[in-house]
Amino acid sequence: MASAAYKYIIVGGGVSAGYAAREFVNQGVKSGELAIISKEAVAPYERPALSKAYLFPENAARLPGFHVCVGSGGERLAPEWYAEKGIELILDTEVVKADIATKTLTTSAGNSFKYDVLVAATGSTFIKLSDFGVAGADSKGIYYLREIREADSLIEAIKSKKDGHAVVVGGGYIGLELAAVLTMNKLQVTMVYPEPWCMPRLFTSDIASFYEGYYLSKGVKIVKGTVASGFELDAEGHVTAVKLKDGRELAADIVIVGVGARPLTTLFKGQLEEEKGGIKVDGFFKTSNEDVYAVGDIATFPMKIYGEQRRVEHVDHSRKSAIQAVQAIKAKEEGRSIPEYDYLPFFYSRAFDLSWQFYGDNVGETVSFGRDEAAATKKFGGYWVKDGKVVGVFLEGGSAEENKAIAKVARLKPSIDSIEALTSEGLAFISKV
Ligand code: FDA
Ligand code: NAD
Repeated sequence: MASAAYKYIIVGGGVSAGYAAREFVNQGVKSGELAIISKEAVAPYERPALSKAYLFPENAARLPGFHVCVGSGGERLAPEWYAEKGIELILDTEVVKADIATKTLTTSAGNSFKYDVLVAATGSTFIKLSDFGVAGADSKGIYYLREIREADSLIEAIKSKKDGHAVVVGGGYIGLELAAVLTMNKLQVTMVYPEPWCMPRLFTSDIASFYEGYYLSKGVKIVKGTVASGFELDAEGHVTAVKLKDGRELAADIVIVGVGARPLTTLFKGQLEEEKGGIKVDGFFKTSNEDVYAVGDIATFPMKIYGEQRRVEHVDHSRKSAIQAVQAIKAKEEGRSIPEYDYLPFFYSRAFDLSWQFYGDNVGETVSFGRDEAAATKKFGGYWVKDGKVVGVFLEGGSAEENKAIAKVARLKPSIDSIEALTSEGLAFISKV
């Protein structure tokens, strides 16, 4: 069994890993000092593409087109880039053991890797319906989406089930983005979710009603207030229908499940302090161990702006946390200090020809603006107001300048005169801040 040693190892080869590698290079890493060990067979890429352009029926995105860091307007780091910079990209390799005491990682092939400093960037995995005890949830024709190989299997299924029925289980990010892209692929799509409206983690019933109406207009059927409880299978064990808890059945050639994610922290269980389901880090992404940093989906970090520890499962934070961690590692080596992470939550989604952005915190009272069913343009949004201050802003169809302005509002948390005044000002309020 082989063994190797690196000054820095990043375990995980997703979004954070790619942005961390670029920052290591920016900060001056020497050839041979850094290795990335990834379960995936490809160099880090912009994961959000997998539920959007990667699945388009025409002009679909393909690697190497969406390797990091193109998602934030940066240089595209193709596999050759890592070779040129002397970064070891160890792909198709799962780390099965992390021994923090001896600073050793062991892979499923039994190889071991020693590090001086470890950056944990293992991201999340999907929650499976079998985790909820749903029988038959691993049958043929049932798909989950996290990595490129799952997206490739889904593309094969889409091709082989032309004009068929797709059932999308879950009304969150994956549910809404997949329902749209499957409809674009001419499948007949039904969404099913337990809540009274889609994306309840963020949307108000008012915001959700717009998207539900839009999806209905595109031919998507929506079944709310119930969950998948089982499946009908054919003689080959391929799914033919989804059984619902309320007794109904939905015909299905393909089932896509998006019922949430779970951070991959098991390698570090009992070795690093945890909080709120993630690995607890400080404002520099340092864990309870001096030489281990954790970034992206797995990190529970101090959200300075709201004075509490939070975990965020979105790409903007995965990029920024990786950059912060690498800057902190280098600053520590050089005896410098850098400012603590001060993150403003930013979430977004795109589906059909719609595109929304949200900044800040979705707590407190809500104020809607701009909804006009008759208008050709679909620009509308909402504010969240807490203690007389605007703390969160949602905007569908915003221009680049407007999106920049709502970010500023959420960051500055301006006071309002009254809910009534904010309601009548609507979107115009952002230009005053
Ligand atoms: P990420 O999941 O990117 O990478 C983790 C890496 O670690 C993977 O390569 C994995 O294989 C590897 N790994 C895990 N365990 C390992 C082990 N033991 N050994 C070796 N390697 C291991 N967000 C957003 O803001 N806007 C969006 O539009 C989208 N869209 C979107 C679509 C889809 C399909 C998904 C699944 C997710 C999104 N997201 C998103 C969320 C966003 O992609 C996510 O928050 C970041 O990718 C998180 O970055 P990380 O680097 O933490 O994990
Ligand atoms: P999610 O948390 O956004 O949504 C989960 C949804 O599952 C809930 O809204 C609910 O409707 C549904 N649900 C829960 N239990 C259910 C059950 N028993 N039966 C049916 N439905 C049930 O999670 P997701 O959509 O699976 O996304 C997975 C991960 O990918 C998350 O980390 C998410 O942030 C990320 N992602 C983000 C984006 C984006 O930011 N645009 C896009 C895609 C994926």
